[in-house]
Amino acid sequence: MKDFKRSRRLRSSAEMRCLVQETTVHISDLIYPMFVVHGENIKREIPNLFGQYHHSVDQLKKAVGEVVELGIKAIVLFGLPEVKDEEASGAYAAEGIVQQAIREVKKHYPNLLVITDVCLCQYTSHGHCGVVKEGTVNNDESIETLASTALSHAMAGADMVAPSDMMDGRVGRIREVLDENNFKHIPIMSYSVKYASAFYGPFRSAANCAPQFGDRKTYQMDPANRLEAIRQVQADLEEGADIIMVKPALAYIDIIREVRDRFSMPLAAYHVSGEYAMIKLAAKHGLLKEEESMVEALTAIKRAGADMILTYFAKDMARWIRRNG
Ligand code: PBG
Repeated sequence: MKDFKRSRRLRSSAEMRCLVQETTVHISDLIYPMFVVHGENIKREIPNLFGQYHHSVDQLKKAVGEVVELGIKAIVLFGLPEVKDEEASGAYAAEGIVQQAIREVKKHYPNLLVITDVCLCQYTSHGHCGVVKEGTVNNDESIETLASTALSHAMAGADMVAPSDMMDGRVGRIREVLDENNFKHIPIMSYSVKYASAFYGPFRSAANCAPQFGDRKTYQMDPANRLEAIRQVQADLEEGADIIMVKPALAYIDIIREVRDRFSMPLAAYHVSGEYAMIKLAAKHGLLKEEESMVEALTAIKRAGADMILTYFAKDMARWIRRNG
């Protein structure tokens, strides 16, 4: 009688499993988000984002040094300005918090890729991602401010800009303004497919950017929609995006796969604050093994088709890869 299929032959030892392993997360796939605040000598743990810190500019040499030492090749910078206003003027100020941070990081680590989150929500008094006119977020005025913000980041030395605001036409407008100002060589990583997600919860306290009225559903996507994601990516590619992103990652793992199958552009996925906090908190309570859960989550995101992953676990994952890779 013919024997049945013996799948367990290839699972018999760690060495055998390694040999047939299909997906590997590399340190070069990881992008580490960092938060910069005004002031001096500040290294403060962010409430709800266990193990992540607010750093003042003078602390970045040391903090980013640890990231570089681990072999991580890219960070994404978020800024918390001293004052917020209606115009989000802190977002595009030459001496703004992110602009200072970029210069400091590039001075010490010229080869590290410094990506900047381009959005207004940390900088507006109302906490929306765009400029508010007559009670609503005004698209066309917002994209002008976003383009000025992206330009100010490029002028400070950013290697890539990453608009996360979800206004229509912002990728095209940013591309135009960068091109007109001799920044044709600076790529745009677009948060193309960004859902209106509850999993951003801890980030809003980290970046102090919860909207003061309403919500983000008039610009971020409905979690129920799949085809809309395809249309968003198409539009961003037509406008000149160089890298596209799906965010969050785990609850949208099907979207990552679908975008991967349909488009040939490099694809990023953002394993967001809530996804990170869930693992951290469950592990703290002894419900999950933290490292195994981290590796499983990030491997799943890569397996789904992401080429790179923005994750608060970047340093922990890099350490794990160095030990086990
Ligand atoms: C800014 C922005 C947000 C995140 C990244 N950029 C928050 C939001 O849109 O509400 C979320 C990141 C995270 O949760 O880790 N718009």
